[in-house]
Amino acid sequence: MKQSILVTGGAGFIGSHCCVELLDHNFNVIVLDNLSNSSIKVLDRIKKITGKELHFIQGDIRDKVLLDQVFTQHHIDAVIHFAGLKAVGESMQVPLTYFDNNISGSITLLQAMQQHRIGHLVFSSSATVYGENYPSPLHEDLPTAQPTNNYGYSKLAVEQILQATAKANDLWSFALLRYFNPIGAHQSGLIGEDPNGIPNNLLPYVTQTAMGKREVLSIYGHDYPTQDGTGVRDFIHVVDLAHAHVKALQYLFTHKPSVGIWNIGTGTGYSVLEVVKRFEQVNQLKLNYQFVERRAGDVAVCFADANKAKQDLGFVAEHNLDDMLRDVWHWQSQNPDGYA
Ligand SMILES: NC(=O)c1ccc[n+]([C@@H]2O[C@H](COP(=O)([O-])OP(=O)(O)OC[C@H]3O[C@@H](n4cnc5c(N)ncnc54)[C@H](O)[C@@H]3O)[C@@H](O)[C@H]2O)c1
Repeated sequence: MKQSILVTGGAGFIGSHCCVELLDHNFNVIVLDNLSNSSIKVLDRIKKITGKELHFIQGDIRDKVLLDQVFTQHHIDAVIHFAGLKAVGESMQVPLTYFDNNISGSITLLQAMQQHRIGHLVFSSSATVYGENYPSPLHEDLPTAQPTNNYGYSKLAVEQILQATAKANDLWSFALLRYFNPIGAHQSGLIGEDPNGIPNNLLPYVTQTAMGKREVLSIYGHDYPTQDGTGVRDFIHVVDLAHAHVKALQYLFTHKPSVGIWNIGTGTGYSVLEVVKRFEQVNQLKLNYQFVERRAGDVAVCFADANKAKQDLGFVAEHNLDDMLRDVWHWQSQNPDGYA
């Protein structure tokens, strides 16, 4: 029998790519999303790519009654939990909104899972839990550090809640995936990142500048101790990241660890300037960019030690930087206004 996966936040950037991957691997997919940062249109696009249907429920992970209905009405084998708010700057302005959505929402979800005896969960964590002070490559064994922003704090808090919860009984089997910098888009150009307002992340900023929607791309910091003075990051293709979730799920089903923690990155760092120049080359474009002051909380260099995911999950990222930059431009140029 096919296994069924509840995907919270499945209409979002990473969630939508994960749904494609799950459907391609013959899972039943049930998406729960309140569409606070995504579009209903993504569902048709997923169907177009996969030729398969998923079940969509519009709703909030903090809605206890709804969660009870979802777990009662559907047979669910595991949950992949993407739902959350992710804008670092906004998290400093409205901390309680972030803590309520990301932390309380996760607790409500866990309570419903416990009530319905569903113990497998893959959680979207972030490299931000390593803090600012460790040299890269970052290994999962490093102690986590106090994050510099409220978004990061919410990720660390949920990681800690999951670890403490898992100790209490053997129902639970959790995968904490610490993402590095997901970019790119599905090769079809049908799904991709469609941020509200001013983008937080480099690539939507790059593509919107290339489209002429933004006049100039600001590169934060030109005086870091790196090869060209700009920050170095571990960029991973979102399709590879989505694939890592299927691998993690399969690992939970076969090994049932109490808690497993894995970095999901490529293990290679590229500087922001390298990415910008490569983007211009791969897509035959010119970008208008300027160097501005460093952003508080940004580290000089951050890339993963990707060996644990390789050893345990058999996960290795397959797409290179050029693939990521070609695919993201394909998505943006096919969809100048995203899903609008
Ligand atoms: N994109 C990144 O760079 C990155 C890096 C590390 C970790 N993450 C984490 O990965 C997850 C997915 O990120 P993304 O980039 O796809 O973000 P996204 O905003 O595109 O997707 C999140 C989805 O969750 C939904 N959502 C938010 N709150 C909800 C709630 N209370 N109930 C139901 N649905 C809700 C949104 O509508 C959206 O569709 C997030 O938890 C994010 O913090 C993202």
